[in-house]
Amino acid sequence: MRRGRRRIVYVLGFGALVLMGASSARGAEVEAACQYLPAAYAGKASPVRLTDRAALAAGQRVYETGCALCHGTTGRGDGPAAGLLRSTPANFAEPAFRDRLPIDCNFYRIAEGVPGTDMRGWKWLGEVTLWQVLAYECTLARAAPTSRRAAHPPNSR
Ligand code: HEC
Repeated sequence: MRRGRRRIVYVLGFGALVLMGASSARGAEVEAACQYLPAAYAGKASPVRLTDRAALAAGQRVYETGCALCHGTTGRGDGPAAGLLRSTPANFAEPAFRDRLPIDCNFYRIAEGVPGTDMRGWKWLGEVTLWQVLAYECTLARAAPTSRRAAHPPNSR
């Protein structure tokens, strides 16, 4: 009897550790991936103003035709194809993503994709279009109800 109770305590404790680990793991993952960017991407800055209305409109068109299928129209990672993929598409409103993915790394990911996942590279869209879609992606992070920070993009750090 006593032994059984102790086992329950262990199980609960282990569960709590797993949950804590899971929430910080995503942030650590994002940081690790961004630490060694290829020279062509490290420190890269947008040639288009990320708040430019024409750029955002162009970015939105690309996003809705190219990205929403997986990332969802509001960028929560819940597009119609999300359930069919090997991993969950990034949720652009998730704090780990929103606050920790530096803008050059964000650009790098869109351009080159994430190896071993269904996120393929979009380099063929061309540099300006890539920045436009990134600009639009940032507005999704900002507009999402879970976002507590009005000032964005934090990625522009
Ligand atoms: C076929 C589905 C699919 C499409 C289409 C797609 N993505 Fe993704 N995307 C994913 C998945 C899955 C991941 C998560 C990969 C992983 O497991 O790290 C991801 C991750 C990302 C990331 C985050 C990478 C990181 O390091 O956290 C960004 C940024 C991104 N996508 C942007 C875009 C943009 C912009 C488009 C459109 C031009 C797009 N994606 C189209 C599936 C997709």
